[in-house]
Amino acid sequence: MVPLRLIYTSCVLSLRQNVGAIVENRVPKFNKTTKVSVFSAYLIRMSFLEEIKKRRTFAIISHPDAGKTTLTEKLLLFGGAIQIAGAVKSNKIKKSATSDFMEIEKQRGISVATSVMGFEYRDLKINILDTPGHKDFAEDTYRTLTAVDSVIVVIDVAKGVEEQTEKLVEVCRMRNTPVIVFINKMDREGRDGVELLDEIEEKLNLNVGPLSWPIGMGRRFQGVYNIYEQKLVLFKPHSKQVGADTIEFTNLDDPDLEKHIGQAAAAELREEVGTIQAVYPKFDRQQYLSGALSPVFFGSAINNFGVKELLDCFVEIAPTPRPRFTEERQVNPEEDQFAGFIFKIHANMDPKHRDRIAFMRICSGKFERNTNYLHVRQNRKMKFSNPTSFMAAKKEVVDEAYPGDVVGLYDSGNFKIGDSITGGEVLHFKGIPSFSPEQFRYVNNADPLKQKQLSKGLDQLMDEGVAQFFIKEMNGRKIIGTVGALQFDVIQYRLKHEYGASVDYEPVHMHKACWVECPKPAAFKEFLDRRKRDMAKDKEGNWVFLAESAWALKMAQENHPDVVFHFTSEF
Ligand code: G4P
Repeated sequence: MVPLRLIYTSCVLSLRQNVGAIVENRVPKFNKTTKVSVFSAYLIRMSFLEEIKKRRTFAIISHPDAGKTTLTEKLLLFGGAIQIAGAVKSNKIKKSATSDFMEIEKQRGISVATSVMGFEYRDLKINILDTPGHKDFAEDTYRTLTAVDSVIVVIDVAKGVEEQTEKLVEVCRMRNTPVIVFINKMDREGRDGVELLDEIEEKLNLNVGPLSWPIGMGRRFQGVYNIYEQKLVLFKPHSKQVGADTIEFTNLDDPDLEKHIGQAAAAELREEVGTIQAVYPKFDRQQYLSGALSPVFFGSAINNFGVKELLDCFVEIAPTPRPRFTEERQVNPEEDQFAGFIFKIHANMDPKHRDRIAFMRICSGKFERNTNYLHVRQNRKMKFSNPTSFMAAKKEVVDEAYPGDVVGLYDSGNFKIGDSITGGEVLHFKGIPSFSPEQFRYVNNADPLKQKQLSKGLDQLMDEGVAQFFIKEMNGRKIIGTVGALQFDVIQYRLKHEYGASVDYEPVHMHKACWVECPKPAAFKEFLDRRKRDMAKDKEGNWVFLAESAWALKMAQENHPDVVFHFTSEF
């Protein structure tokens, strides 16, 4: 038997390594009281670390229609979080809905419910963060990507890499977010596998390593060979079964292969798997975790096919909560002190209550209900009596949450995207930028009696990150800049219904707004004097250059080499 004294000392040493602050520098005396308190501190610490290790927080991203919603739903089905297909509503706004306000409102309602979908699988806590598919809401998606630790990219086998996928993966690459690729709709005729991998490498700039390989496609689709687990997974068309027939197949030269998939397909599979194993790098988890290698899976989400393999591999390889960076220092999940940031704000549906839900990603420490935390930007203490967690479509008040989790905080206008909440330390999380808008309108007050309501409405909508607001230096005119045209309709509608204010828009001919700065005051003054007509300030009072055309921007850059032009607000 191990002597009690030895166990006690090892607890103290382990605590010292993990906690530091809790335990003094020497091993406390072995008396009854210290023994109990050290043991319980040890157990609390260990269970905290266990909770962190259980978390997998990720997003599924795709071009609209590639199958993101379907895949999400199937993952929730496998995770037992929902019982029937159809429980997760597609949150996409159909292309025809540009001015369909009811559709926008419906979308807002659905996306609160599906903003975070948590479920448990193989004793892990999986958090899927939803991202809007519509390109006009791309900025929302970019920000959500700051709150995840990895992503799954869905690609339609027939369409290959589409525009929206390129942009989203670019944002992931900027942060070295680990990416898994799922090539969907294998039950349909599509592009050749190797050709698709080439396109992914070229357009998405990812190094790929297939972990499964399809056996035919469309009508000839027979399933996949799971390279990761060395299994043959057979596809049964029109079967609604959860899970597929799998057969261990460590050696593809086994003559039994013919029995399962026929001679021609077996020969083709052997040749193709041989080639890809020779050409593509062997899977290496460290490379995947550093964003240098992306495993690829093939399947058909609507047929539940290939989804379980994806999920089983995902839970094994996907990262646990990763550190986050602040202007001050790196924040590690295992730290005792709580810290988190707001990455998304969602207005409530009820116009009578202007409540909003601010979504906070927990980055370090344990978050507890009714505990005083520091709202860093406002430099004041706040406590939260109803922090909400999201398990599939269910919302519930939580008493505690851990790094990797996302909690919803009811907010009456205190938060803005990027805000830090901490246990007391002043931290400013990095990597939550605003992107240079590309669509602009002058905004005029259409109801002078409602000036106050308009200001408040615009202020809050901008805090939510719906759009950006600029005031022209020359004449004080107000300009709203957005990434997509749909936001103008959303703003007009929400100002009216939530704030009782009316606005008209006037077109502005403009190419881009970029933030400017210059290390040389004299050169900056000259730039500001000469370009007065094109200068504006954003909500925070930063200088913004409004370029009328790509040419005007190029000229300004050439004529003022000391001035730095930024295309995101974070620099
Ligand atoms: P999104 O969230 O990425 O926009 O895509 P979503 O899941 O809504 O899927 C887009 C369409 O593709 C849907 O059809 C969906 O049923 C279909 N789909 C998804 N996975 C597969 C697959 O593996 N094979 C095939 N053949 N189709 C797939 P829809 O007609 O637009 O909608 P619905 O009427 O089926 O809901």
